Amino acid sequence: MGVPAAAGGGSYRVILLVPTTAAVLFLLLLCGCGTPAAMAAAAGGTGGEGEQYGGARYKDPRQPLNRRIDDLLARMTLAEKIGQMSQIERENATADVVRGYFVGSVLSGGGSVPAPNATAEAWVDMVNGMQRAAMSTRLGIPMLYGIDAVHGHGNVYKATVFPHNVGLGCTRDPELVKKIGAAVALEVRATGIPYVFAPCVAVCRDPRWGRCYESFSEDPKVVQQMTSIIPGMQGEIPSNGRRGVPFVAEQRNVAACSKHYVGDGGTTKGINENNTVATFHDLLAIHMPPYYSAVIQGVSTVMVSFSSWNGVKMHANHFLVTDFLKNTLRFRGFVISDWRAFDKMTTPEHTDYINSIKLGILAGIDMVMIPYTYTEFVDDLTILVQNGTIPMTRIDDAVRRILRVKFTMGLFENPYGDPSLAGELGKPEHRELAREAVRKSVVLLKNGKDHGEKPLLPLPKNAGRILVAGSHAHNLGYQCGGWTITWLGVSGNNLTVGTTILDGIRHAVDKNTEVVYVESPNASFVEENNNGRSFDYAVVVVGEPPYAEGFGDSLNLTIMEPGPSVIGNVCGSVRCVVVLVSGRPMVVEPFVGDVDALVAAWLPGTEGEGVSDVLFGDHGFTGKLARTWFRSVEQLPMNVGDKHYDPLFPFGFGFGLETQPSTA
Ligand code: BGC
Ligand code: BGC
Repeated sequence: MGVPAAAGGGSYRVILLVPTTAAVLFLLLLCGCGTPAAMAAAAGGTGGEGEQYGGARYKDPRQPLNRRIDDLLARMTLAEKIGQMSQIERENATADVVRGYFVGSVLSGGGSVPAPNATAEAWVDMVNGMQRAAMSTRLGIPMLYGIDAVHGHGNVYKATVFPHNVGLGCTRDPELVKKIGAAVALEVRATGIPYVFAPCVAVCRDPRWGRCYESFSEDPKVVQQMTSIIPGMQGEIPSNGRRGVPFVAEQRNVAACSKHYVGDGGTTKGINENNTVATFHDLLAIHMPPYYSAVIQGVSTVMVSFSSWNGVKMHANHFLVTDFLKNTLRFRGFVISDWRAFDKMTTPEHTDYINSIKLGILAGIDMVMIPYTYTEFVDDLTILVQNGTIPMTRIDDAVRRILRVKFTMGLFENPYGDPSLAGELGKPEHRELAREAVRKSVVLLKNGKDHGEKPLLPLPKNAGRILVAGSHAHNLGYQCGGWTITWLGVSGNNLTVGTTILDGIRHAVDKNTEVVYVESPNASFVEENNNGRSFDYAVVVVGEPPYAEGFGDSLNLTIMEPGPSVIGNVCGSVRCVVVLVSGRPMVVEPFVGDVDALVAAWLPGTEGEGVSDVLFGDHGFTGKLARTWFRSVEQLPMNVGDKHYDPLFPFGFGFGLETQPSTA
């Protein structure tokens, strides 16, 4: 590829990770001299440690990390090693399969749950059942259960759903985001799960991408700041602790995963899983910085992107995965593939699977999210190792990394979910935190018409009669977006527990204020009702339907029908604020002149009262755009700093409104 192997040096810290003492112990182990007891004595340990653990040093938490890893690795067969590298979907994970294939990891895909509306206890039972199977194998290596908790524990009924990252970026508040990380970790642990496929640290450069809402910002610096969610989830490395190595503080934390490495947010026209055309310098300047921050803060795992860089699939990119991430950045955790990514290395999918496995494993992928064709994966990888195509050193590197994460997170000592944490799921303190995040993420884009008309916000609470309209005013599923209960997200109010924006408005106004809610009023309804018993003002909440991944790719970025006509019908005769519920900036230029106020609420999640908190002035507006608001899609891609920069609302924009509740 003609790229310098260590370019970008200086913008991250390189740390030597093998401590001398561990290296000495390793040599002792290699030479095979002495009994375990003699070696323990040589290492300054007390005799009898081995006995307590049946001679198995890897089970002894007092042993140094590398010694435990070496000891365990030395005992493992090829089948056991390949098992550690395999992550299968929970649907397949019967006790027999987990035991028979020595399965190292199990996941829930989007919407994959033990039962609809399953309780925390039901989740813990499921995970613990699988764990019992793993613990009953010859070496008793615990399996690692993982799930996407990309805006709270979204798959799980009654979990707190936080704003998607696109909103969190607008808070510019890394401390708040760290607290969110800690809350998410607790809710995930409440279901017996110790590992999340989050945060997404994509730097979305084109809002036409269906995953733009999973990105904190178009600006790598903002994304870097928001990686504070990692020490939130995993716990903070103590000040005297080692930086840059996988770290999980305790059983109330989870192992995190920064994804999708690298350049996922830079694909041409924002097409999901497509090709990112960029020089190595641009890749380092735009898409790589969040990984420096993630690695130095001890992120446990990194997920590789489906996308390609300059035509080469990231899953086959030895230079970026091994030379750069592992050897230059010194990432010591494990690298995981994305969902069915080895199948997707070819078009059509899954042709020459064995070759894709070869490319992926040789590129440096350690754990493979298979998630269904695990028998074929195991058979093929076994052949590739047995015939020498993949050296055992590569397999050992992968397994060593997986074991390192499992040991550092205390999984061997605490393999089972703790049912006493059930009360953490969706608890009031977490909902309060989510509500705070909502009001800090909402951005006030316009307040008052252009010709000196008086601002509409904050809305008076003691109005006589107000109108609330629009497809997104009273739809919990819509305001949560994708990755909520199901992969693609849902419509309606029965999916989980939460408060819609309409609920929030009803709670906020004076008890004598009449709130009229009509989802899609026509113009004559508004006019007729406005005669005599007029509406003091209207709140119109419109936006995008939920979506995930490629299903959200859009070339037009227009508001969902009948949103634009509802805006016209209402704002034609009543003073109105339009609230947008969307995963990204949308086309608003055609109507922005006709509305009195415009607010971007992003995808706020279950706590809709965060929106009414700012509309009615119980809290001020502080959110600042973390993305450029374009005028028309023809301008895209257009990011802050670009030569052709001519936005409707620039990056960083957002009216501040320091308010007290209004009584006018
Ligand atoms: C997504 C990942 C996700 C995985 C598991 C993939 O399709 O790209 O972000 O972690 O599925 O659900
Ligand atoms: C799964 C998701 C996954 C997606 C990828 C869905 O069926 O539920 O977890 O990300 O497929 O295509």
